[in-house]
Amino acid sequence: MKKQTLLYALIILAFNCAEEKKETPTTLKYVKESHSNAKPNEAVIKHLDLDIVVDFETQVIDGKATYTIESTNASEIVLDTKYLDIISTEADGKPAEFKLEPFNKQLGQALRIPISEDTKQITIHYKTTDKTEALQWLSPQQTADKTNPFLFTQGQAILTRTWIPIQDSPQIRITYNAKVVVPKDLMAVMSAENPKEKSADGVYHFKMKQPISPYLIALAVGDIEYKPVSKRTGVYAEKSMIDKAQAEFIDMEKMVAAAENLYGAYDWDQFDVIVLPPSFPFGGMENPRLTFATPTVIAGDKSLTSLIAHELAHSWSGNLVTNATWDDFWLNEGFTVYFEIRIMEALYGKDRANMIALIGRQDLEEEVEGFKDEPDMTKLKLNLSDKNPDDGMNSIAYDKGYLFLRTLEETVGREKMDAFLKSYFKTNAFSTVTTEGFIDYLNSNLLEPNNITFNVNEWIYQPGIPDNQSIIVSNKFENAENTLQSFLDAKSVDVSKTKDWTTQEWVHFIRNFPETITTDDLARLDTAFNFTNASNSHIAMVWYEQAINHNYHGNGVDQKIEDFLIRVGRRWYVSTLFKAFKKADKVDEALVIYKKSRPNYHSVTANTIDALLGYDGN
Ligand code: BES
Ligand code: ZN
Repeated sequence: MKKQTLLYALIILAFNCAEEKKETPTTLKYVKESHSNAKPNEAVIKHLDLDIVVDFETQVIDGKATYTIESTNASEIVLDTKYLDIISTEADGKPAEFKLEPFNKQLGQALRIPISEDTKQITIHYKTTDKTEALQWLSPQQTADKTNPFLFTQGQAILTRTWIPIQDSPQIRITYNAKVVVPKDLMAVMSAENPKEKSADGVYHFKMKQPISPYLIALAVGDIEYKPVSKRTGVYAEKSMIDKAQAEFIDMEKMVAAAENLYGAYDWDQFDVIVLPPSFPFGGMENPRLTFATPTVIAGDKSLTSLIAHELAHSWSGNLVTNATWDDFWLNEGFTVYFEIRIMEALYGKDRANMIALIGRQDLEEEVEGFKDEPDMTKLKLNLSDKNPDDGMNSIAYDKGYLFLRTLEETVGREKMDAFLKSYFKTNAFSTVTTEGFIDYLNSNLLEPNNITFNVNEWIYQPGIPDNQSIIVSNKFENAENTLQSFLDAKSVDVSKTKDWTTQEWVHFIRNFPETITTDDLARLDTAFNFTNASNSHIAMVWYEQAINHNYHGNGVDQKIEDFLIRVGRRWYVSTLFKAFKKADKVDEALVIYKKSRPNYHSVTANTIDALLGYDGN
């Protein structure tokens, strides 16, 4: 080749490369999403140093958040805040003049802080306000021991911004250190390395060395103690609950071992559970290293501990591999239900696992029916722009997500399924995944190599439940149905038939009452089994639901329902009962109770019930 031609060829090549660069947009690390104002592709937080004082007198958290940041030529960094009082901000220790954008009901206010190319740190001095949605301040009366106040946070989905100014997107991952000052008699714990005893001065230091998403930053402050269950598992609770909690969760180490055996090492060192006061709005919340749990899970016989298996499973699906946006929420919850049921199967066998799965399958049926005018809401991948991500927290993500994975398992076989899931968690550890990223991974690591066709797109992007769904059967439930039928036919109750029943069988039995069941039938069953006074919260809840549905008022059940709704703030229970009132055209009755119970609820429960009952404060 002549020198000149070579030169010419090189110029063309260089030109083409430049062209190509221009045409292919650089892939941005963070995908677009609708629930955060942050612009992480321009400037992103990497580490948080939190320094706060928790004041129970004024019910205010006061402090500063210092972030280590990374940026690409950005002139500002944008954070999420909602209902916060921003006092001042700094960039590398020097005052920086911040701007707060107008308030948006869903997202709150964007906080813009000017930075330069070489800004390494920003600091925000702030206070929480009485509108905060994450915090619930409890009076001593609302706790188990009734002598000291209590505080807990709930970050998921977009509430962390109401107690810490932050880039509040699940795509963000930060490590954090915290200094938390609380009243001397109380102990503080976080989703971090935790103290096992109270400090003398009420000052606590925390370190979370694994990077986590902001919705997983959590704090609880109360008169609590610690008891170990094993070397790496244990419980925090108030004094009157601690022994019960330890006994209920005695299988925790076995659960962690079973989970590790399925999908790889537990990456968070410690797995503890804190049992919170009964107003906690969820069954459980998977805050890393420290699951937050409702006391209603303590049944005395370990019968509701699949909830612990569920929150533990989130240590892989959710906390390690995180949904990129709240539209991908099913990646967190569907995988977690699948994993939870596999843990339960490993510990207690297929019968128990299938009963849990079948209860979920029935919930799913009801949810799909409830969305018959909004079929888009029954897709796994959602579009929640302009909606509260909370709207996606229903049986679709959980139970349709589960059914998809169970059906996939049945198609490919358990061995391949498990190898696939294990590699999925390992490959994506400490990062986020979109639904599309998951589908790519599934195609290239499970379906294509094994030459398997599966209707993945139908499952994920179409409403309803595809025809190839796995059919879940349970002999135990069939037996419960038969027992119910013979009670109804004979109008008398043979108690011996039910003496070995588990909670799941009871729940199924009660939920299967026919439309035509009479109050006499209910009274007879109540006399035989004393459902109205059930100490098991799940059994009580489904019984109360039936009492409301069928106008049963015997055995003092009305008072029991009211007491339950005032004491318990767990949203799933509370909303099931208020929905029953509404369906039975008893909204007025419901409102009388709700006016008394509402002050006891955390904002997430109150918001749901306000909408359900059309309550606006009057
Ligand atoms: N992460 C959820 C709770 C959650 C979801 C809070 C969305 C806020 C927004 C938790 O893991 C969960 O699913 N809890 C369930 C437990 C059940 C499925 C065993 C609950 O609270 O009922
Ligand atoms: Zn969950």
